[in-house]
Amino acid sequence: MAVIPVALAGRAYDVVIEEGLLGRFAEAAAPFLKGYGAARPVPFVADTNTHRLFASGIDAHLAEHGLAADWFVVEPGEDAKTWGVLEKLCDWLLASGVTRKDHVFALGGGVVGDLVGFACAITKRGCGFVQLPTTLLAQVDSSVGGKTAINTRAGKNLIGAFHQPSLVLIDPMVLGTLPEREMRAGYAEVLKYGLLGDAVFFSWLETNGNKVLRRDPAALEHAIATSIAMKARIVAEDERETEDRRALLNLGHTFGHALEAETGFSDRLLHGEAVALGMVLAAKYSARRGEISAADAALATEAIAAAGLPARLTDLDLTCDGAALVDHMRHDKKAEGTTLPFLLLRALGEAYVARDVNLPDIAAFLDGELAG
Ligand code: GLY
Repeated sequence: MAVIPVALAGRAYDVVIEEGLLGRFAEAAAPFLKGYGAARPVPFVADTNTHRLFASGIDAHLAEHGLAADWFVVEPGEDAKTWGVLEKLCDWLLASGVTRKDHVFALGGGVVGDLVGFACAITKRGCGFVQLPTTLLAQVDSSVGGKTAINTRAGKNLIGAFHQPSLVLIDPMVLGTLPEREMRAGYAEVLKYGLLGDAVFFSWLETNGNKVLRRDPAALEHAIATSIAMKARIVAEDERETEDRRALLNLGHTFGHALEAETGFSDRLLHGEAVALGMVLAAKYSARRGEISAADAALATEAIAAAGLPARLTDLDLTCDGAALVDHMRHDKKAEGTTLPFLLLRALGEAYVARDVNLPDIAAFLDGELAG
């Protein structure tokens, strides 16, 4: 078991990581279940998959504590992060009589967490929520740190708020039912922590990554706890991403976002897969600038390929050129005027924010990568 505090003044909370925690979450979340009872059910939001897999166990567990759940169930996937679903969720919370002291429970991956977090940020100007993340990506990244959002026609996550959860309960055992491809996509975010800030962890993953992907309990818990400990530290230092600290967590995301946009934010390329390839491109571009060696860029690429993640731009069968990918980057929320901060590497285990990157040079670099 690991308990990792997120030390934010006035909004501090714990991330608890423990095998089997979902089966006993009511004990860990007891302070946030006050005010609920048989006649006042606990609001739970899930998608159809997490509802099918875990709702009956949760209902039975709550019943043992004299409690019941009321379920709001969304379709899986990014389509749940819309104005329409947000409106229905807020109306449902208001109809349930939610108060600002109440906590809503989010059971799912990043989509459910982002949606619930944003609904809780705006309903009655802010009520509480507890994250019960069920994907590796949500367990190592999106459930912690308070970034909440929905998507709009203009892009992903452009409407949102910083709203921290009151508690994050991570049960690595729930990953037993996660499809392989989603497991690998989440693992890309684990590798990200090694690459951006912890060379020892990166080496550990080079040796033990397969165990993590095979869901070996000890390896998985170590990978999740190390990732979350770094995220908690960075979020506590720079909650709102104003100081070039939290931005480090975006390693691979600027290239990755352009690839997601070019592939229509579809199942053709999952977010974690785009981040994986984005990290390869960031490493190779860092080598092109002479900041890391070609051998180090190759090590980063090998670690990503070894996890079964896309590691070459030619893997994607894109028909666009580098300029088209750069065009997608111009819509990035981090773009400021005509400049775009890029996350690059000074070493394996040391990322930094480069503000002198020339977008035509990125386009030329991408043309080379697209040509194979
Ligand atoms: N996923 C990046 C962050 O939370 O800042």
